[in-house]
Amino acid sequence: MHFTITTPLYYVNDKPHLGSTYTTIACDALARFQRLNNKKVLFITGVDEHGQKIERTAKANSIEPKQHCDKISKVYKKLWTEWDISADRYVRTTSIRHTHLVHKFFKRVQASGDIKVGRQNGWYCVGCEEYKDVPNSINSPVCEIHQKELEWRDEENLFFCLSKYQTKIEELVNSESFIYPRSRQREIINFVSNGLKDFSISRVNVDWGISVPGYPGHTFYVWFDALLGYLSGTLEGSNDIDLDELVEFGWPASIHVIGKDILRFHAVYWPAMLLSAGIELPKKVFGHGFLTREGQKMGKTLGNVLDPHKLLKLYGTDAVRWYLLRDIEFGQDGDFKQQRFIDIVNNDLSNTIGNLLNRSVTMARNWFDNKVPAPDININSKYLENYSIRTIINYKNCLNQLDFKGASEYLLELAICSNCYLNDKEPWKNIKDKKNISSVATVLYSVLETTRIIGILINPLTPDLSNRIIKQLGYNIPISSWQGELEWGRLNSGTLLPEPIPVMNRLEYNDEL
Ligand code: MSP
Repeated sequence: MHFTITTPLYYVNDKPHLGSTYTTIACDALARFQRLNNKKVLFITGVDEHGQKIERTAKANSIEPKQHCDKISKVYKKLWTEWDISADRYVRTTSIRHTHLVHKFFKRVQASGDIKVGRQNGWYCVGCEEYKDVPNSINSPVCEIHQKELEWRDEENLFFCLSKYQTKIEELVNSESFIYPRSRQREIINFVSNGLKDFSISRVNVDWGISVPGYPGHTFYVWFDALLGYLSGTLEGSNDIDLDELVEFGWPASIHVIGKDILRFHAVYWPAMLLSAGIELPKKVFGHGFLTREGQKMGKTLGNVLDPHKLLKLYGTDAVRWYLLRDIEFGQDGDFKQQRFIDIVNNDLSNTIGNLLNRSVTMARNWFDNKVPAPDININSKYLENYSIRTIINYKNCLNQLDFKGASEYLLELAICSNCYLNDKEPWKNIKDKKNISSVATVLYSVLETTRIIGILINPLTPDLSNRIIKQLGYNIPISSWQGELEWGRLNSGTLLPEPIPVMNRLEYNDEL
């Protein structure tokens, strides 16, 4: 059985910002966690390249839409390589395979009797690529998200009969296991309970889209096209698309991770489309919160957009991943404050975890011939072992629920507790008397072994740091599965410990950001 994870397919109207990087990092952490648990992971990301927003951006830059898309999709792909994102698939909605898939899917929906011709009029936001509900009393409505005037549209469109799926969608959104976090479920339940309206799935005024078979002049509405990217990402290989093969390749998605603003598309429209086509529904949709910067919404007008490329260059992947996953409750809104970012990374990674590793390796090297000492089995020393076992359970539970913050806190507590254990046991005093050598060896072994467990557990969150920690312990890398690795006692006594170098350099405030 696959564990299929998707990020949203990002619009290529502009280069990536920290918001898209945030989702992708969270999905990457989840993908790595599931792989370490021996799941057959399929991690899909990609770009959403059609629609009026992209068409207009290309025009403004005086280039062809395809050229524009090629350029920005490359930027996204390169960014994910730089961030060491372990995605298995990179979907482009301009690919020929995807077009084939959209056509095949449309035929199924049509065969179910769910397509009709109608007239759509209303206020449209090109930024959201969405019609908005506007009270009649407002003459020049503005999009709350983009702060731009909405555009009036009145045209012939094809409609998808969403209303037909009212009962099934109601059941789905009310179920315990579909929408996460719970706080976002309520708003979707309310929306559905007001009655689902058929929605238009084609446009007649947009050339930059996939043509609708049998309806000259119509192109598919960008959301209808984009959501299907999850299916073309699942089906690998040739242009010969067979929707019946989806299950074999990893469908249904175990989880779609998205931002809260696009929850409705994923939790209502998308399942109805799949029901109509006779395709299994995704298991879970998780709507995370929005990132702000120093308390302000990020935007081009404010000139405060956080450039992920710059952030990476200045501080490296581990620091940013740790901060985003550890400090912001996944599901809630979060704020990027540079000073807090620096304080947290320095405190958690350099001081608490880095120091624990450095001091224990240094002591072991100095007193035990550069090697991991052998614990004395006659000395009762289960304290850190038991603490580690509890941490492993709690940590895994948190990650299974995408509670990255909770998981990081458990991990950090274990490191703090190991540092306190060393302080209490004072091996630097005891070693002065030769008769204490076994008890010192036992204490140091416990701490080194706990540090190994921390190094292994931290892997999904900060993979590079994880490798540096376990390498410092002379432990074999890379680790592709947690099977057996989290058992107490895997660190072999007598292993040579390399000279310690700081695994995490301290960060400094940078005005350039
Ligand atoms: N193309 C659609 C998604 C189609 S999925 C089949 C889209 N693209 S987007 O590029 O505009 O947004 C992608 C994701 O970025 C969304 O999940 C959105 O919520 C998220 N974010 C945009 N700004 C954000 C922040 N400031 N903070 C966190 N996430 C944010 O919508």
